[in-house]
Amino acid sequence: MLRKQLSRDPYTTLAKRLGMLSRAAFKLQYVQKRYGFLKPGDSVIILGSAPGGMAQLAARYVGPHGLVVAVDVKPQDFKIADNVISITADVFDPDITERIRKALKSGQADKLVSDLSPSLTGFREVDVPRQLELVEAALKIAGELVRKGGGVYLKIFESPEAKSIEDSLRSSFQKVKRIVPMATRKHSSEIFLLALEKR
Ligand SMILES: C[S@@+](CC[C@H](N)C(=O)[O-])C[C@H]1O[C@@H](n2cnc3c(N)ncnc32)[C@H](O)[C@@H]1O
Repeated sequence: MLRKQLSRDPYTTLAKRLGMLSRAAFKLQYVQKRYGFLKPGDSVIILGSAPGGMAQLAARYVGPHGLVVAVDVKPQDFKIADNVISITADVFDPDITERIRKALKSGQADKLVSDLSPSLTGFREVDVPRQLELVEAALKIAGELVRKGGGVYLKIFESPEAKSIEDSLRSSFQKVKRIVPMATRKHSSEIFLLALEKR
């Protein structure tokens, strides 16, 4: 039954047809088309990168002079592209920032994407706080590793806390926008925050 529902999803079908590793790639493509988020030569961190659709697409956007550091607790034990370095780690690991820093060419990133999501239970009172903890871990990493002038594209579940995180991003980034990519499933409470020009 679930298999049937999934195969009816147009983005899943399209991702398969285009040889993409996951439908999540379209959520990055959306912000890329509208805001030109990633630039050739950028170094980008992707948190919650498995199975790899976003990393695969980001590798194309940043090109051969750019770098993608793809982090997930699930092992990605195949090479996504020549300019992708995969790190298997938990974002709550105490040495996570240092591990990512070492993988970056200059020790800093131009952009950070967080597509982190816990295994969903379907109960908002469980899922929303768990996802918020991941958002907080992502923001800590962004605070330490994203360079001045850089940007963040961050998945968050709609909640009063999401609004306060959006407000707090405004103090550290010049521009902050709420984005609902077309590929976000209809009844999902997920949104993305796009924060540009880190102060
Ligand atoms: C929606 S999926 C990501 C899809 C991915 N962006 C893509 O392009 O294919 C969410 C990911 O978050 C990862 N994740 C959840 N908790 C994590 C944690 N504490 N540390 C690292 N990754 C985590 C999961 O393993 C899962 O792969």
